[in-house]
Amino acid sequence: MAFFKCVNMLIIIFIFFLCATPIFSDSSSTNSKDHLAIPKLLELAKEPQVFDWMVDIRRKIHENPEVGYEEFETSKLIRTKLDELGVPYKHPVVVTGVIGYIGTGLPPFVALRAEMDALLMQELVEWEHKSKVPGKMHGCGHDAHVAMLLGAAKILKEHEKELQGTIVLVFQPAEEGGAGAKKILDAGALENVSAIFGLHVGPNIPLGEVASRSGPMLAGGGFFKAVIRGKGGHAANPQHAIDPILAASNVIVSLQHIVSREADPLETQVVTVGNIQGGGAVNVIPDSVTIGGTFRAFLRESLTQLRHRIEQVIIGQAAVHRCNATVSFLDDKIPSVPPTINNDSLHDYFQSVAGSLLGIDKVKGHHLLMGSEDFAFYQEAMPGYVFIVGMEDVSVERLRSWHSPYFKVNEDVFPYGAALHISLATRYLAKLNQEVPAEDGKYHDEL
Ligand SMILES: *[C@@H]1O[C@H](CO)[C@@H](O)[C@H](O)[C@H]1NC(C)=O
Ligand SMILES: *[C@@H]1O[C@H](CO)[C@@H](O)[C@H](O)[C@H]1NC(C)=O
Ligand SMILES: *[C@@H]1O[C@H](CO)[C@@H](O)[C@H](O)[C@H]1NC(C)=O
Ligand SMILES: [Zn+2]
Ligand SMILES: [Zn+2]
Repeated sequence: MAFFKCVNMLIIIFIFFLCATPIFSDSSSTNSKDHLAIPKLLELAKEPQVFDWMVDIRRKIHENPEVGYEEFETSKLIRTKLDELGVPYKHPVVVTGVIGYIGTGLPPFVALRAEMDALLMQELVEWEHKSKVPGKMHGCGHDAHVAMLLGAAKILKEHEKELQGTIVLVFQPAEEGGAGAKKILDAGALENVSAIFGLHVGPNIPLGEVASRSGPMLAGGGFFKAVIRGKGGHAANPQHAIDPILAASNVIVSLQHIVSREADPLETQVVTVGNIQGGGAVNVIPDSVTIGGTFRAFLRESLTQLRHRIEQVIIGQAAVHRCNATVSFLDDKIPSVPPTINNDSLHDYFQSVAGSLLGIDKVKGHHLLMGSEDFAFYQEAMPGYVFIVGMEDVSVERLRSWHSPYFKVNEDVFPYGAALHISLATRYLAKLNQEVPAEDGKYHDEL
């Protein structure tokens, strides 16, 4: 008994010490006490009152996955938690979006982003908190992203007085193909924000490590659909018909020549036709054929060029075969996404912050990813940085990749995500304050 009392006492003293010490200080400071501050943050995020709280939130969201623009219960849960913490917020920002504020309420503003949406897929992982909604699943880890941002908010709120500006918590809808980020920006919710940080859990990166890169990281891309119209007729008398099947075949082949003959071989681009529909009988030439596909690239100019050439090639190649074609880029249904390009100075900043939190050997580079991330929209509007937080512990199990029906989140990643959010935002606010020029004294006085 006495032993346990003693341990309890030690824990209380330890927690008191954690709380009493400023935890957001800049480790570049020469003060050696400050230098210890950042690693302490991780310990704080591992405390049961933060860790268990995040786990509980994530499991609730996981059980009730909601797809883009339908995240009503998720949004409600987030607001309940923010209310509990006493964090003010704006809602609704774009249907279900929630924007929270911690700090002085004055500039500078630094934003942290979490997506709320799930995927239309059936979860095949058998566990206690499996999705209760057939055909819907948090298969990309956005449930974990929400939990980690709330975990960060919990700690930040307790240290609000130390903040040198305002941290903007962005809980956005519809990352998966819905361009929720773009709508958040269009709503003007992130006006005056100096920088935005986002993280994504990584199933194939070790727990305790982070990975990212400077410049392009994920591809941008768009979708297209074309209807090629000819004139139907008897398959035995092609001279009386205009064959859209042959036209479509040549269109598809020609589309493959855009990347192979027109793109710089050192630059990565893709054009894929993933859908073709036309004809019903083996002895009938149909009236029309529909094709659909996607294009991806890492440069904005390349995406514009691909889009232009895809339309030209489809219409031109159809005309060669006496067919008419109409091309649509589905901007309303599946909006195109720009490439995700990490700001280079934020990359240096990230390396230094993540390095002091995790150890510089845990901060890794990442290869280019051909998938897309709607965080790219934020990066078009302001300096932005996205990175991957590793969660794989091979001593326990190998994790399946994003969007797999067997996708699992290792909840041990939560303290890392929360601590990274906190240190990236707080130290950036401090950095911005140092950079405010002397004549801009107005902000300084207010802070
Ligand atoms: C951004 O700053 C301008 C000028 O200070 C102010 O008028 C505007 O309301 C601010 N926008 C937001 C969303 O805070
Ligand atoms: C293509 O469009 C032109 C002009 O509208 C029309 O005259 C022609 O019949 C159309 N051809 C096909 C195959 O639909
Ligand atoms: C990166 O962000 C900084 C501010 O942190 C900005 O000054 C710079 O212009 C940005 N770089 C690019 C390439 O946008
Ligand atoms: Zn995803
Ligand atoms: Zn995702």
